[in-house]
Amino acid sequence: MSLKDQIYLDKLPQHIAIIMDGNGRWAKMHGKQRIFGHQNGVTAVRETTEAAAELGVKFLTVYAFSTENWNRPKFEVDALMRLLVESIEKETPTLNKNNIRLNAIGDIKSLHKKNYNQLIKTIKATADNDRMTLTLALSYSARWEIVETVKSIAERIKNNQLNLADIDHQLFSSHLNTASMPDPELLIRTSGERRISNFLLWQIAYAELYFTQTLWPDFRKEDLYEAIIDYQSRERRFGKTSEQILKHK
Ligand code: FPP
Repeated sequence: MSLKDQIYLDKLPQHIAIIMDGNGRWAKMHGKQRIFGHQNGVTAVRETTEAAAELGVKFLTVYAFSTENWNRPKFEVDALMRLLVESIEKETPTLNKNNIRLNAIGDIKSLHKKNYNQLIKTIKATADNDRMTLTLALSYSARWEIVETVKSIAERIKNNQLNLADIDHQLFSSHLNTASMPDPELLIRTSGERRISNFLLWQIAYAELYFTQTLWPDFRKEDLYEAIIDYQSRERRFGKTSEQILKHK
């Protein structure tokens, strides 16, 4: 039986988040500059997006550029940004053909104007698509997002639009960048690193974590299927006992 056939379509994670890691090491292994790894990482994004949409996953979120990535050498930052924006532009017809909506989370206003404008253009051009939402985390970090959320809630309290007693975890979630999405049930990180690196800290409270040695540019459909099969073999208890979970199955 193929890996794809081993997936239970009625137990799919609705939302998969991915920390794409290992582009630099992959390039080094091939005796090339780091940007060569990022370029090949785009192929992995395309394959993963296609595989997730074909299966029926509704939300795919990829960590494309962290707040901390701004500290990389300027030529790498510039090349990565150019690659991101050019890829987005090039893929717009394919996103539309496949009914996939592009979305972005993070401090996208900090992008260079030209990149920001292109990103917004593609977001608008794909806004009516409803098969799957592909979200790029760009200039994103979870602590930044949480601080922004606290500020926006505080602002509403200051303006008497909200009472302190109204604050609960649902209200907090509804002020995050990810307000329109369910929390990810599965978080994948490639390249053998076992860290969260400031990604979706609030949203992954109950996510299953999956780490693979595969470097991001080598990640293909089969790798996604393996991650989903592993996720489906786990028992998600949300603090309850095994017996309580089995009784309600
Ligand atoms: C991490 O590898 C990867 C990134 C910081 C960038 C990821 C971006 C892409 C794959 C391009 C995505 C394109 C689209 C259209 C979303 P690293 O550089 O940290 O690798 P290393 O840990 O081996 O040095």
